[in-house]
Amino acid sequence: MTGLPILRWPDPRLATVCDPVGPDDDLGDLIHAMFDTMYNAPGRGLAAPQVGVLKRLFVMDCGWKDGTMTPMVCINPEILRADGMAPGAEGCLSIPGVLAEVMRPERILLRYRDQHGAVQTVELDGFEARCAQHELDHLDGIVTFDRLSPEARQVVEEAYSISFPANNPARPA
Ligand code: NI
Repeated sequence: MTGLPILRWPDPRLATVCDPVGPDDDLGDLIHAMFDTMYNAPGRGLAAPQVGVLKRLFVMDCGWKDGTMTPMVCINPEILRADGMAPGAEGCLSIPGVLAEVMRPERILLRYRDQHGAVQTVELDGFEARCAQHELDHLDGIVTFDRLSPEARQVVEEAYSISFPANNPARPA
């Protein structure tokens, strides 16, 4: 299976705050297709809005490229606690070929529902923490560029000959 088409930034659907998943939403096929799409891309995380579904869920697997499958399905995720701050280079399947250095908390406590409806609370650090925050940002209509200082944004724009949309209503202040 080749998966679903991935929306490219600056598609306005990538700047949309997504709706919570409801208890009766049937996500089985979508989750399956999202994993296929992510592994095929190839990537380590994919949020539902990136395939045009404006619901609060993402899938990730930070280990598969290193030979350890660690698939996670995060539905209605929330960050309960975050600490430390560190820079790290992030790519995005919706902004192919572009890396941006983003400052984020190094460790988070994440609560979400899994694909079976069970509430999970996990502590993540390192790349997994970064990946989960990147994907959660997508659910709030935020991409990596929105997290850059004006100066850093200009450096990325010049390096890749791209320009940012003037107004993303979801951009953090
Ligand atoms: Ni992304």
